[in-house]
Amino acid sequence: MDRIFSGAQPTGNLHLGNYLGAIRNWVALQKDFECVFCVVDLHAITVWQDPQELRSNIRELAASMIASGIDPQKHVLFNQSQVSAHAELAWIFNCVARIGWLNRMTQFKEKAGKNRENASLGLYAYPSLMAADILAYKATHVPVGEDQKQHLELTRDIAIKFNNDFGVDFFPTPEPLILGPATRVMSLREGTKKMSKSDTSDMSRLNMTDDADTLSRKIRKAKTDAEPLPSEAAGLEGRPEARNLVTIYAALMDQGVDAVLSEHGGTQFSGFKQALTDVVVDKLAPITTEMARLKNDIPYIDSVLSKGADRADAIAQPILREVKEIVGFLNR
Ligand code: AMP
Ligand code: TRP
Repeated sequence: MDRIFSGAQPTGNLHLGNYLGAIRNWVALQKDFECVFCVVDLHAITVWQDPQELRSNIRELAASMIASGIDPQKHVLFNQSQVSAHAELAWIFNCVARIGWLNRMTQFKEKAGKNRENASLGLYAYPSLMAADILAYKATHVPVGEDQKQHLELTRDIAIKFNNDFGVDFFPTPEPLILGPATRVMSLREGTKKMSKSDTSDMSRLNMTDDADTLSRKIRKAKTDAEPLPSEAAGLEGRPEARNLVTIYAALMDQGVDAVLSEHGGTQFSGFKQALTDVVVDKLAPITTEMARLKNDIPYIDSVLSKGADRADAIAQPILREVKEIVGFLNR
């Protein structure tokens, strides 16, 4: 049986990259798959989180998933720390994964920065917990943005090594689903850097909570070059900022880049930015409004997450019991 698992970190500043690279695809996959979606709060604390803010960010992320179209009745939506199987399986995987594998992870190198000795042990083991998230549900497909591809490969390596070490055919090797025209949305300030929650400049990203005026101002100020738009995709070569804005427009309109350029080719950026603002505001406003409403309904969000955790537990616990059996632990 095919099963989807995916997650996002409750670290605030949910942006258009998260939406186009991940959440929008999750919404579409609900039609054809059984889906498990997770607010990965255990992953969030691999770097310092203020407890008050973390609590609020967990609820905000759940609200934004529901507002974007995740159906918590038909599918499973929960937060990671409420289901103990994640942490338990992660420990077992820490003993399967090799230090050499983790040393190759580019995200750790980026996040740890120069002062690697001072990074948390959790940040280093992050991909092993991510493998546990996915494999605790024996998920077969994992929709993510391009930046998570390497972590998915590590998950597959862990699944294969576990099966080999114990001589079992137990875990599937999950496939990444890197979908849609915007798998890597770039910063508005620098077309070669990805749009990111942690960028110090808020002008670099379009947040899901930004109002129409803010979105409009950020797009107007977005970095571009001096040339008008080309009339075909080949003309975007070497113009990362132009490519990014056109890609965002195409993704939101569900059009190909060529179709966008055949309509807008030859226009100056000032005109295209206005068109882009209209599309961004038009597509995001209904989600933002619903998100704001849901976010204030704390009892509703908490009850969704608690019911989701029960359902997640019901899938993961029997799998974890079998893992313990395989490893040689005693089950109660
Ligand atoms: P995070 O917020 O880092 O937990 O990421 C949540 C999801 O959004 C993951 O599937 C990421 O791959 C995806 N994502 C994050 N940033 C971007 C981006 N700039 N473009 C496309 N997808 C992204
Ligand atoms: N590491 C992912 C990110 O930063 C979030 C994540 C945690 C995840 N566990 C996962 C994504 C399992 C997919 C599947 O985006």
